[in-house]
Amino acid sequence: MDLTKMFLFLLTLLSIYHAKFGVFNPIQLLRQGSGAAGEYSDCLSWRLAVETNNLRDWRTVPESCAEYVADYMLGKQYRDDCDLVADAASDYAQSVKPTAGGDGKDVWVFDIDETTLSNIPYYNRSDVRFGALPRNGTKYYQWVAQGAAPPVPSVLRLYNTVLSLGFKTVILSASSDQFTKIRSVNLNNAGYNYNWERLIFKGEADRGISGSMFKSKIRTELVNEGFRIVGNIGDQYGDILGDNIGNRTFKVPNPMYYIG
Ligand SMILES: *[C@@H]1O[C@H](CO)[C@@H](O)[C@H](O)[C@H]1NC(C)=O
Ligand SMILES: *[C@@H]1O[C@H](CO)[C@@H](O)[C@H](O)[C@H]1NC(C)=O
Ligand SMILES: *[C@@H]1O[C@H](CO)[C@@H](O)[C@H](O)[C@H]1NC(C)=O
Repeated sequence: MDLTKMFLFLLTLLSIYHAKFGVFNPIQLLRQGSGAAGEYSDCLSWRLAVETNNLRDWRTVPESCAEYVADYMLGKQYRDDCDLVADAASDYAQSVKPTAGGDGKDVWVFDIDETTLSNIPYYNRSDVRFGALPRNGTKYYQWVAQGAAPPVPSVLRLYNTVLSLGFKTVILSASSDQFTKIRSVNLNNAGYNYNWERLIFKGEADRGISGSMFKSKIRTELVNEGFRIVGNIGDQYGDILGDNIGNRTFKVPNPMYYIG
């Protein structure tokens, strides 16, 4: 037996040992070390790293975490996590509520996808697999054009709370303005009753800039118009970083995709 064979034999033994006792898996370590494949043995750690913006610019959910992400999005934990964010945002909104008879310039900014509206029915499809398959814009916009997205219930609750406190709302999405009509009907059907101050999508003129830059630009325009952004909520860091992000930002979870 030469040295290479001896080494492979040892690796195999250690792998079997790991499979039985779950202690040490050199194959897994080699895979993680190689980077490109992006396989992770601990999907909760992966999701935490995603939520804290430690992992960026990832294109698909790692195959090794596909099932984990599907279970998370369909299960109780995702709903609980959204509830906690919305509750914290509600508490904050109540603590800073605009003075009665305010000037109508205190606004909350809400993102759409995976914030006010949920695309879980789309991501649940076998040809999408909760982001484990590469994003396909054509397919995604075919789903958007159906106007059938349900709300994220916790965010709908927050939305109604901030309205009842006397704030105005701005719904801001970097998705295409070709679907403005259908999306506004969708938002209304989902419970956001056409009572936003503004509903803004990315138009032709801004096609060349990133979603994040587009949102910074719009928020700056709002501030220049005299609006005060008191709260801002989205599922992407691009929603809550940049210029004029607001007095406080909130992020709901999204382990299905990353938008820079
Ligand atoms: C997800 O897909 C499964 C299998 O097709 C289906 O049974 C389930 O109702 C779907 N759930 C949602 C929330 O879309
Ligand atoms: C994207 O989806 C469309 C519509 O389903 C399909 O025709 C096209 O082949 C897909 N593109 C890729 C690269 O898979
Ligand atoms: C928001 O931030 C601005 C600028 O720091 C400050 O003047 C204002 O009082 C803050 N508003 C609230 C509601 O905290």
